[in-house]
Amino acid sequence: MKKQNTKKKNTKKKFFTIAVSGTPGSGKTTIAKFLAKQTSGRYVDVGTFIKRNNLSEGYDRKMKCLIVDERKLARRLERAIDEEKKNGSRGIILDSHMSHYVDPKKTDFCIITKCDLKTLKKRLHIRKYTKQKIRDNLDAEIFDVCRQEAIEEGHKVMTIITDKEKEWKKQLQILQKDMKKTFV
Ligand SMILES: Nc1ncnc2c1ncn2[C@@H]1O[C@H](COP(=O)(O)OP(=O)(O)OP(=O)(O)O)[C@@H](O)[C@H]1O
Ligand SMILES: [Mg+2]
Repeated sequence: MKKQNTKKKNTKKKFFTIAVSGTPGSGKTTIAKFLAKQTSGRYVDVGTFIKRNNLSEGYDRKMKCLIVDERKLARRLERAIDEEKKNGSRGIILDSHMSHYVDPKKTDFCIITKCDLKTLKKRLHIRKYTKQKIRDNLDAEIFDVCRQEAIEEGHKVMTIITDKEKEWKKQLQILQKDMKKTFV
């Protein structure tokens, strides 16, 4: 009689990619760094990545920010994801309000950070952003720009509200439990 193979095949993935996006000041860095520490994934500050790879096409003086072609950036980030995977890394966590432009086929999910408008206004005020820049960012948060774009791009989106540390830590704990089912 032929012996049946009862051994369960391990279908868990070895590498994860998480894109963390959201309006400036909404808490991306806080969440991405925390998650990187918890999961031993590599944290990528996309702002530094842009500078290191000469990906900016100038500086917008009025908005006080770098001018970046988000599609070009996304292609370069996709290469970085592939390299990181080849190097045997555990995973990669991208921190940028443009990270949702990365091909969803290259990511496992996209976290969108959000916070109360009053909180956001306060955070941006502390950074001494101009009135116009604060207004623009508040509008982006009101219209949920990053989340809508991430959905349109085809990402699996998870929203994290960053106002209360206890709350977002609880949400991330649940996420990590879920990740353990999918990743080695
Ligand atoms: N739960 C929280 N409680 C109190 N302060 C917080 C909380 N989360 C974030 N902050 C503060 O809010 C500010 C903005 O957070 P953070 O730098 O993570 O946002 P960001 O989305 O990465 O911003 P940017 O897009 O400009 O990089 C920081 O000063 C951070 O310390
Ligand atoms: Mg940040």
